[in-house]
Amino acid sequence: MTIILGLESSCDETAAALVTSDRRILAHKLATQETEHSPYGGVVPEIAARAHVEALMPLVEAVFAEAKLTLADVDAIAATAGPGLIGGVMVGLVTGKALSLASGKPLVAVNHLEGHALSPRLAEPALEFPYLLLLVSGGHCQLLRVEGVGHYRRLATTIDDAAGEAFDKTAKLLGLGFPGGPAVEKTAASGDPRAVPLPRPLLGTSDPHFSFAGLKSAVMRAAQSGEWRVEDITASFQQAVIDCLVDRTRRALAASKNLSALVVAGGVAANQSVRSALEGLAAEHDLPFVAPPLWLCTDNAAMIGWAGAERFAAGMTDGLDFAARPRWPLDPDAEKARGAGVKA
Ligand code: KG4
Ligand code: ZN
Repeated sequence: MTIILGLESSCDETAAALVTSDRRILAHKLATQETEHSPYGGVVPEIAARAHVEALMPLVEAVFAEAKLTLADVDAIAATAGPGLIGGVMVGLVTGKALSLASGKPLVAVNHLEGHALSPRLAEPALEFPYLLLLVSGGHCQLLRVEGVGHYRRLATTIDDAAGEAFDKTAKLLGLGFPGGPAVEKTAASGDPRAVPLPRPLLGTSDPHFSFAGLKSAVMRAAQSGEWRVEDITASFQQAVIDCLVDRTRRALAASKNLSALVVAGGVAANQSVRSALEGLAAEHDLPFVAPPLWLCTDNAAMIGWAGAERFAAGMTDGLDFAARPRWPLDPDAEKARGAGVKA
C-alpha cells in the first residue's frame, strides 16, 4: 500500500488530498475561488494564480493534520502539471517539486485530464480497462478509449466550445451567475425541455466530433427575443446538450469493441440529467455505467492523487525539471478535428 499526496491548481480550485493505492481517501481539502472570480463572470488567470499561492500550502498542512500524517509518510507527490491556466499550474507543480526535494520522495507530474479519466477507478474498484470515457469539463469535451494508465485513444473532441463552457456562457448571458453549470441545472429543473426550439449541432453525422458554438448563439437569440421564460431556455439548452452528448457517445459505442463500461467524468458529469441520459444509453448497450460521485467529477486533488498512485504503481515518476504544460493532449497521436478552432 502506498500513500500519495495530490495537488491541484490548474483552474479555479486549489486542492490537496492524501490518497492510498488501495483507494482510501485519507483527507481531501478544496478552496474554491468563486468569490474572487464571480464579479468578472469567469476565471481571471492572474487572480487565480495569486489565490492558488495563498491557498495551497495551508491546504497541504490541513490534509496532513486531518490524516495525522507527515510528509515523511507519503510515498510520492503528485501534482497537476497541465493542461490549464499556466500560472496556476506552475504554483501547484513548483510546490510539488519543493515538497519532493525537501522530502526526497519522487514527483509524479499528472495530466489533469488523466486525473479526470482515472477518477472513476478510484470510485469503482471493479472498473477495468478498456472503457469508453466521455470527458466533459469546462475546458474539454472528448470521447476517449481508456486502454490503460497512460494509454488513451481520442475518438472525438469538440471543434469549438467545450460542453461546460457552453453551460457557463449560457448562464452568463442569462444572468444566472458563476459557475454556470450548477446554476443552469437548478433553473432548468422548473423549465420545459421541449419549449424552445434549439439546434443540435452535428447530431447524427458520421463525423465523430462535438460542436456547441451554434447552440450557444441560438440560446443568445432566444434570450434576446424576450419570447421565452429563462427556466424554459435553460431546460431546452440542457436537453440539446444532452441529445448531442448521447448521440455522439452512441456513435462511439457502435464503433468500439470489447468495452468494459461506459464512463463519464469531468465537471459536467455532476449534472443529474446528463448522468441519467448516459445511464440509459449504457443500458441500451448492456454495458455497466460508471460515474464518480459529484464531488469527484468537478476539479479536486483526490483524482490527482489517485492518478499519481496509478502512475507510481506503474513505475512512472518524473524529474524535477518537468516543465508545466498549458496544453497537453491525452492522446498525442490524435489528429486535429476537422474544422477545429484553436482548442484541441
Ligand atoms: O472538471 P471541472 O471542474 O473543471 C475543468 O477541468 O474544466 O469542470 C468545470 C465545468 C464548468 O464549466 C461547470 O459549469 C461545469 O463543469 N459543471 C456543470 C455542473 N457542475 C459543474 N455543468 C452542468 N451541470 C452541472 N451540475
Ligand atoms: Zn477539470
